[in-house]
Amino acid sequence: MSGKLFDDELKDKGVFKDLGVLSPHYIPKDLPYRKQEIKQITRSLASIFLNVKPNNIFLYGKTGTGKTSVVKNITRELESTLADKSKNKNNARAAVAYMNCRLGYNSKYQVLLKIVEDDSLNREGLKDTPLEGVRGGKLSGRSPTELQQRMRATIESNAVHMIVVLDEVDMVKDVNELIYILTRMNDEIGEVEFDGKTCRGSISIIGISNKYSFKNDLDPRTKSTLCEEEIVFKPYNANQLKTILKHRVKMGFKKGSISESNIALIAAYAAQTNGDARYGLRLLQKAGEIAQNNKRKRVKKDDVKEAKARVEEDVINELITTLPEHQQIVLYSIADAIARGSQYKRLSDAPADVLFSGEVYENYERICKHLNRNPRTMRWFGEYLKELEMLGLVTLTLSGSGVRGTTTLIRLGGSPADIKKIVASSLGLH
Ligand SMILES: Nc1ncnc2c1ncn2[C@@H]1O[C@H](COP(=O)(O)OP(=O)(O)OP(=O)(O)O)[C@@H](O)[C@H]1O
Ligand SMILES: [Mg+2]
Repeated sequence: MSGKLFDDELKDKGVFKDLGVLSPHYIPKDLPYRKQEIKQITRSLASIFLNVKPNNIFLYGKTGTGKTSVVKNITRELESTLADKSKNKNNARAAVAYMNCRLGYNSKYQVLLKIVEDDSLNREGLKDTPLEGVRGGKLSGRSPTELQQRMRATIESNAVHMIVVLDEVDMVKDVNELIYILTRMNDEIGEVEFDGKTCRGSISIIGISNKYSFKNDLDPRTKSTLCEEEIVFKPYNANQLKTILKHRVKMGFKKGSISESNIALIAAYAAQTNGDARYGLRLLQKAGEIAQNNKRKRVKKDDVKEAKARVEEDVINELITTLPEHQQIVLYSIADAIARGSQYKRLSDAPADVLFSGEVYENYERICKHLNRNPRTMRWFGEYLKELEMLGLVTLTLSGSGVRGTTTLIRLGGSPADIKKIVASSLGLH
């Protein structure tokens, strides 16, 4: 080895100054167009400084509208303000346990375990609970009741205001029970003497979701508890997205490497995609990469267009390959039946890209056999179709009563050949 393998990659090649600020994990300090939302949440959490329990808050808004970033920014600032004695005159204590419920914290038990094991409840300066001698020891395997007791005891003995942030809360299976348990615990937390004053800890919830139907699927009691305060994050429009992106360009791109009109084009694309800032940032990064890979120091309009096509491909790829296996097989059966066209035994003279659910089910059974899988029943098949429709991968319509009675007609949302290729490589089909 010459030791020069990476030299070419490390050479200054042009477009980017700091790729980190374009990453989806980067949270800018300044979040334009969210002042009002930030104010409302901050005002609510500020009651901690008076040793009063904050309200529960529910944040709703489409993907990429800044919900996670806003909450992370505020809680970070809450922690630093609490640590500042000149500002925290009542010596209030708070703990923030943040979790993304999609990433494993999707049950009452996992959430409780995360809270009791979270650094914020196990940090230096907080008294250990009277229940356990060990601090920060492994607690998995303990019963939910034990976890609750431990949580309550730590909060009580330290008079801590606990903020539980449940990001993507719609992923929690037993969410009604979880909200009930956390709320009820407030009634069980007793008063303690702290710095010569009587105070009482508390638990508040910040729930975040981008799923429109989530709130209405909750029990009425849970709904009114969780949504004591509700904040809706509106999608960004093209102008707002342009400002957000320009700011990142300034930090992440070299001067002059992308024009204002190309930033505007990306913003327009992101505005069409539900005002999703994350999508805009992804396009920005991809366009930069395309220019850079072509050894150019400036992003062209065509790079932006290509970036859009590639990001869309990536998004569909991710969407399909993360589907449960049988949904992938159903999707494949549809794409396959369309691709076979006239060779496929069709019983109707409907347009070539429209299929009857019956014929797709037959194809699904055939492919399951080929894959050595047990086909699910017709009822399950129907459920899978509905889920695929929700994801925009297929469209379903009911046929009028005709030769075959009322039946579901299926149309594929993308190119059959592309979809077949993606599923085939995901499932190892040949
Ligand atoms: N007002 C803003 N200013 C600057 N960047 C923003 C703003 N809003 C969002 N972003 C950026 O857009 C991306 C997505 O934001 P965020 O993750 O907060 O969205 P979200 O509403 O939580 O989406 P999801 O529902 O998909 O979780 C992040 O990279 C974030 O930094
Ligand atoms: Mg989020």
